[in-house]
Amino acid sequence: MSELSTESITEAVLQRLAGTPDPRLKFISEALVRHLHAFIEEVRPSFGEWEAAIDFLTSVGQMCTRERQEFILLSDTLGASMLVDAINAPRDPRATESTVLGPFYLDDPPQFENGAIIDGGREGVPLLIEGEVLDSEGNRRGGAIVDVWQSDAEGAYDVQNPESTTYLRGRFTCDGAGRFSLWSIVPSSYAIPNDGPVGKMLAAQARHPFRPAHVHFRITSPGCSSLTTHIFVKGDEYLDSDAVFGVKESLIEDLPLHEPNEAPIGRLLDRPFSWLRRTFVLAPVPHQA
Ligand SMILES: [Fe+2]
Repeated sequence: MSELSTESITEAVLQRLAGTPDPRLKFISEALVRHLHAFIEEVRPSFGEWEAAIDFLTSVGQMCTRERQEFILLSDTLGASMLVDAINAPRDPRATESTVLGPFYLDDPPQFENGAIIDGGREGVPLLIEGEVLDSEGNRRGGAIVDVWQSDAEGAYDVQNPESTTYLRGRFTCDGAGRFSLWSIVPSSYAIPNDGPVGKMLAAQARHPFRPAHVHFRITSPGCSSLTTHIFVKGDEYLDSDAVFGVKESLIEDLPLHEPNEAPIGRLLDRPFSWLRRTFVLAPVPHQA
């Protein structure tokens, strides 16, 4: 049996992977080994540091529940999520830009009729959201499914609420003209969950955990690429330093206050409200190479 050295160990592991039947898995495995070994060569961790690294990843996994996805937070705060987004985003310049999914998406949100109030009684400035969904040829996407979720005016999501009621989250179906509408409240900037290992990492790196105020959208329509994006609130103090690097200029919208008597029919308001009107454009499904 031959002795392995720091020079030969990488090659030995790569040879062990040579028989991996799935070519994509083989490529990924080989790249992982090469980059991991190069990382270790560069960092030259002590035994204690390597043990701390294992403990950190273990605690990230142990922090995960249905409502708390610490690995997504880790991916987001290291910029990895946005890198994956950049690689996979449709190249169609007519399409609305995408951004991170974030850790608070639920794939089974309550369904609502258009025009529904989804604030769950949370205090805040009423926000009327009126959207239209088009494809990149300008065709209206009637029947498109729109998932919306956001923080409340204190910056908290429903899934962070110990009472566990669902609010400020819902699924809407566009009408025949590709339009959807709802009433929520103006969201607030918020700190990503920072009471776990990712929070400790940010503190050790002297980074703040805040995200600028935004509303999440995930839109699907047959024949189009699905779109996962946010609309950010113009003027937010964290637009230039989002903890997860998710801000894109084209996704920032002004939400000026309107007088109550301007509110569309269907809701009586006694206080000013904000109004977000936005067109979302879905790219075509990419051709398989
Ligand atoms: Fe968010």
